[in-house]
Amino acid sequence: MQIALLGYGTVGHGVVKIIESQATEQLRRLHVSQIWVRPEKVDQNPLFTADYQEILANDKIDTIIEVLGGLDPAYAMITDALKHHKNVVTANKAVVARHLTEFTTLARQNHVKFYFESSVGGGIPWIINLERALRIDQIDSIHGIFNGTSNFILDEMMETGAPFDVVLAEAQRRGYAEADPSADLDGDDIENKLCISASIAYDTEIKPNDDLLKFGIRNITAADVSFFKKHHWVVKLIGRSFRRDNRYNFVIEPTLYAPGEIEAGVHQNYNYVGLRGTTIGKLSFNGQGAGELPTAHALIQDLLDLELHMEHLTRNFQQELELDNNSKLLDYVIRSEQDVASLLSDYEVKKEEHDYWIVKQISAEAAHELIQQLEQTEKPLLAAISQQRS
Ligand code: HSE
Repeated sequence: MQIALLGYGTVGHGVVKIIESQATEQLRRLHVSQIWVRPEKVDQNPLFTADYQEILANDKIDTIIEVLGGLDPAYAMITDALKHHKNVVTANKAVVARHLTEFTTLARQNHVKFYFESSVGGGIPWIINLERALRIDQIDSIHGIFNGTSNFILDEMMETGAPFDVVLAEAQRRGYAEADPSADLDGDDIENKLCISASIAYDTEIKPNDDLLKFGIRNITAADVSFFKKHHWVVKLIGRSFRRDNRYNFVIEPTLYAPGEIEAGVHQNYNYVGLRGTTIGKLSFNGQGAGELPTAHALIQDLLDLELHMEHLTRNFQQELELDNNSKLLDYVIRSEQDVASLLSDYEVKKEEHDYWIVKQISAEAAHELIQQLEQTEKPLLAAISQQRS
């Protein structure tokens, strides 16, 4: 298989490194023929070109790997590749979350494949197993720790008691965080990954949008961590979606677990992703959600599926579902200087030390609405209490 790579950053290097290792018989079937880079870099390597039309016109190249990240120029380049009858394999969660239906349709129309295993969960074989479960089951729940940087930050804060800023700087030093860490801290990266996962699971189109509930970890302080520890809670930034009949919820928020729960044992920058299906029940995966070689590994698994003619599940994304973040109730911890009990007079609310309020049986929508209101004057905290414990 002759491949062209779009981009030569960390993951691109990883792809070339693994393919050039020729470590297995399967890897020896793959050849990187050209690498598209910005014009100023072209002289650095004989495989480099800045001329995408040259790659598209090269009939020997049957597959394009897109590892540029971001929407521009990735969206246009993927579209062009599919229209030129080239398979596309990508790690780009932002572009997949927004254009999955379009890319899937274009690939079908042009008799090629569009695979994106590495866009969710890095090296974890998540998409392939989600699709595999869907060959038999209805999947009604997706949930997990989809972002390594936020997990590293929370884990370090829990382990060392260090303040947020210090731990964020360490995550950046280790290369875990995105160039702009906002996506890791505010849940946008998880939103992309959960949109992709839930769209496949429910065979519907869920794109990032303002109605999806998102609250990140930016406001978590060392004092919050110490409060959680007193309650024997471990805090994790969780993405979860649950479908019942034609309704689904979609929530990203810090969540508190008892030490024995699986999520509590996911340390450092590891990811944990899981589903619940009609016959398989609960199924989950734990592994490296980012990084040069794990992400490249997942990309190359897609290449080998193409090379070995292993077809992935076909989805149309045409189910019509309604977003409903109001039906499911959980207990929440809210930290606020304001009188949360009077703001939530319809709920059972208990005040704990300092500014912590335990709110019983409130919907995610109502809890997030309150936090948006509080955010106008302070930096409040919101954390759901895991249902297993409550
Ligand atoms: N910044 C992401 C993370 C990279 O920390 O998980 C992988 O998508």
